[in-house]
Parts: sequence; C-alpha cells; structure tokens
Amino acid sequence: MKHTESPFEKLARKHQEAELGGGQDKIDAQHKKGKLTARERIRLLLDEGSFEEMGKFVTHRSNEFGLDKQKILGDGVVTGYGTINGRPVCVFSQDFTVLGGSLSETYAEKICKIMDLAMKIGCPVIGLNDSGGARIQEGVVSLAGYADIFYRNTLASGVVPQISAIMGPCAGGAVYSPAITDFIMMVEHTSYMFVTGPNVVKTVTHEQVSSEELGGALTHANKSGVAHFTASNEVECIQKLKTLLSYIPQNCEETTPLMPPGKAKTGAEEALNQIIPDNPNKQYDMKDVINYVVDEDSFFEVHAEYAENIIVGFARLEGKTIGIVANQPAHLAGVLDIKSSVKGARFVRFCDAFNIPLLTFEDVPGFLPGTDQEWNGIITNGAKLLYAFCEATVPRVTVITRKAYGGAYDVMNSKHIGCDFNFAWPSAEIAVMGAKGAAEIIFKKEIDAAEDKEAKLNEKIAEYTHKFANPYRAAARGFVDEIIMPADTRKKVITAFRMLENKVQNSPRKKHGNIPL
Ligand code: HXC
Repeated sequence: MKHTESPFEKLARKHQEAELGGGQDKIDAQHKKGKLTARERIRLLLDEGSFEEMGKFVTHRSNEFGLDKQKILGDGVVTGYGTINGRPVCVFSQDFTVLGGSLSETYAEKICKIMDLAMKIGCPVIGLNDSGGARIQEGVVSLAGYADIFYRNTLASGVVPQISAIMGPCAGGAVYSPAITDFIMMVEHTSYMFVTGPNVVKTVTHEQVSSEELGGALTHANKSGVAHFTASNEVECIQKLKTLLSYIPQNCEETTPLMPPGKAKTGAEEALNQIIPDNPNKQYDMKDVINYVVDEDSFFEVHAEYAENIIVGFARLEGKTIGIVANQPAHLAGVLDIKSSVKGARFVRFCDAFNIPLLTFEDVPGFLPGTDQEWNGIITNGAKLLYAFCEATVPRVTVITRKAYGGAYDVMNSKHIGCDFNFAWPSAEIAVMGAKGAAEIIFKKEIDAAEDKEAKLNEKIAEYTHKFANPYRAAARGFVDEIIMPADTRKKVITAFRMLENKVQNSPRKKHGNIPL
C-alpha cells in the first residue's frame, strides 16, 4: 500500500528541501570556491541553537523566463533572528546557491521584514552578502525591492547598528545597501564590490582590470576606504563581526556592553614618559600611545589600512567602550588630508550616534598643502571632520601629545568645539604654525636685513619656539584644562570619563544639520 505523507512528514520534508537551497551540486560548487553556504555562515555567527528563521517557505511570484519552474523554498535568502554572546540580532544571509543569490521581489520583502523587526525591538542588523544582484528575470520589481531596502537602511541609520559582511559578489546598485550601513567587512579573494564590473569598465574607459583589482577586499580597504575591515577567510570574518559587536550598543538609546575592567599594559607609564622623541620632527607610533593608555589588548582598529595618518577604532577603559580618533605622526607626519578627514568624520558620527565616548590623541602639523588637496576639496572634506566633532554630544576628551597647529588644532576635538576635558603633555606645541614657518613670515624683514640670514632665522625660530611651541599659552587661557605627565594619562582620562558618565547636552532643535558632504 502506498504511504501517504502525513502533515508532520510534509513539514519535515519542506524543511529539508528549504535547507538544501539550490541543491547539493550548487552547495558543492560554493564550497569549491572556498565559500560557506548562507546557513553555514549563520551557524557560525549566532549562538548555538539561537537562530529562529522567518520566511523559510517563501517563494517568488514570477513566471517569466522559466522562473515558474524554479521556485526554491526561501527564495535565495535566509532571514531571521538569534543571539550573539546572548545579545539579540537580526540577520539576513544571501544564498548564492539559489539563482546566484539574486534579489527578487519576495527576497527583498524578507530582508525588509527583519529590518522592520530590528527597528521595533532595537537590535543590530547583520547582512551577509553574496549575490549576483537584481534578479534579471524579474525586471523592475527587483529594483523596487532594492529601493525598499535602501530606504529602510537609511531610516535605521543611527537607530540600530547595521553591519555588512561581503562574502561574494556585490555589484551594481546592490552595493548601495552595504554602503549606507555603518561598517563593511570584506573577505579577501572571494568577495568584490563595484558599481560597474570589469567588462563595462573596459567598454567605457578602455581600462583592463580584474574584479579583484577593481573591487576586491584589499582595494576597498586601502584605496577607496569602502571596506572598514578585511578578513583572510570567512571564519575570520565572522569572528571579527562578533568582536565588533562586542563594542557597540544594541541601539541609539542603549549604552555599550560592559566588559570586566581591564588593566594597563605592564610598563605603560614609564613607556609613555619616554615616547616623545627629543627631536620634534621625529616620528613615533601613536598606536603605542593608545595601547599604553587603554585596557590591555582592547584596541580594535577600524579602517586600519586606509588613510593611515589618522587612527580610528574602539577600545575599552575599565571595561567600557570608547571611540578613539588619533593623528598618526608615523604616517605623513599625522597631517590631515581629504581621506583622513572623511575617515575620522564618519567614525566620530558613528560614535556620537551610538553613545560611545570619544577620546582624541592629537599630534597634527596641520592640513596637507597642495593643488591635489585643494582641487579635490580639502575645504569641504576637512570641514566634515570639524562638523562631526562640533555636533558630537557624547563625552569627549582630548590629549595633545605634541603638535597642535593651525586649523587642525581647532578641528581635532578642541575645547572651543565642545570637548569636555582637554589635556596636554609637557611636549605639546600649540600654535598657529610650526616655528620655522612662523619665523619666516613674521620676521621676514628682519631676516632679509640681517648679514647672517641663517643665524637670524635660527634666532627667531628659537624665540617663537620659546614663546609658542609649548602648552602653557593655551593653558593660561583655559583652552587646555591641565598639563599632565604622559604617565598619568590613563588615570586622568578614566577620571574624566567617569565624571562625564551622565553628561547631558542638548543640541538646537532642527530637522537635521547640513554636514558639508
Ligand atoms: C538571475 C542570476 C543572476 C542575476 C547570477 N545568476 N546572477 N540569475 N539574476 N542577477 C544565476 C546564473 O544564471 C547562474 O544560474 C547562477 O546564478 C550562478 O551564476 P554563475 O554565473 O554561474 O556564477 P559565477 O560564475 O560565480 O558568476 C557570478 C556572477 C555572474 C559574477 C555574479 O553570475 C554575474 O555576472 N551575474 C550577473 C550580475 C549582474 O549583472 N547583475 C545585475 C546587476 S545590476 P545557473 O542556473 O546557471 O546556475 C543590479 C541592479 C541593482 O543588480 C539595482 C539596485 C538599484
């Protein structure tokens, strides 16, 4: 007698079918490329057994170009919620084994549904991207689906953290959803992002370029700055996603997760007292300063390979998250240029949106001169960093370690633009410009008239240095609250942030400001 499938058996069969996605051969092909499947990625990401899937049996509604014969349960994206280290997250994971992970009307609806859920419950959205883009057979409804996602990405921006991992192709307009999210992490060699691929590039500009070179992880990590993080493989990528989440709150109303209080690195205090070289033109590594001040091993750098003249990243002080923005004298003397200003501004705005106090370490000789910078808009782009600091209402502390020159002094979280506590080391030089440049301008006539011009110049440099290349003028005005020994920095900033814990600062009522984009 023929066995009739019971309702329970039917459900079990459907689950099995959905979990196979595009089928075993497509799963094998995915593995062959060194990639995991959508479900394997979710299993790695979420706490064991915590994933609750939504829309597992959704199928598309299209009958064009034979799609009526290719209705696969779930329709190419796995969506749902679960926990990471006990904290809820909403997640979507694009399934390349189903029609190349291409986005259909129903697929977009599934993503929108979990984004709406994340907004209602106030939790981060993590998108694992691996898709051939708009489902070509569906035409405009697929484009509409993308737009529905972009719209939600924008509404969610600043409300819940949104994080994108790129684990395969991400091309055409599809790139704009990750681009609106807060952080992009790319897997080396198996992921790429571009608006137009190598073939279109070749036709239009006659440039010959591979996908990897045009839009691979390393390109976006150090050339374009599109990627905030890279990982050498998917497992590392997912691990880094979890680390990133450990620093950030669930939403804009919450505070950051509290970790057990950490300690300073052994020998940090002595090392800090010795870190500034005697010669003001010699470099030192600001990352050492950061690592000596924050809880040991807590510094998690963002955009590590992009615009290295500024350092941004998360760290902890007594187990609490802070955001760090620091000039890097070991790269281009720590100068502010277009890229570093934009990098810094975006990070400051993230921290401000999500209640993360800001600690700035300053050693900046000024803005980078040159036609390249001027013609490409250092004015507008430099203003982004200035604007971002000005509008930030989170607790803010600055430590001037050495140079604080010119407009860059104002921009780098100065007292004047709302910083709460400004400290300077005895090695700080706070002035309009470096002593040599200043002497050449203000004592030009005297120097020209002198018999020994070089001796006169040196004399005037020494005079200017004595008067201005120190922190005492600024301290006399109260622009610096305290001049501290480098060894005391950790103690001082911890006390400052403790004091600022309940800081309330209201901004003028407005619809939104107009940051110079
Ligand atoms: C429908 C697609 C698809 C798509 C891939 N597939 N992309 N189906 N719509 N966009 C299908 C393929 O037909 C194939 O089906 C399967 O997915 C795997 O694709 P392959 O080409 O075999 O894989 P691979 O060699 O790894 O190449 C991956 C790829 C390539 C580079 C992504 O598939 C590709 O170039 N796809 C088209 C990309 C594209 O132009 N998309 C539209 C971009 S415009 P079978 O049945 O053979 O396994 C866009 C606009 C968004 O997205 C606008 C938002 C505003």
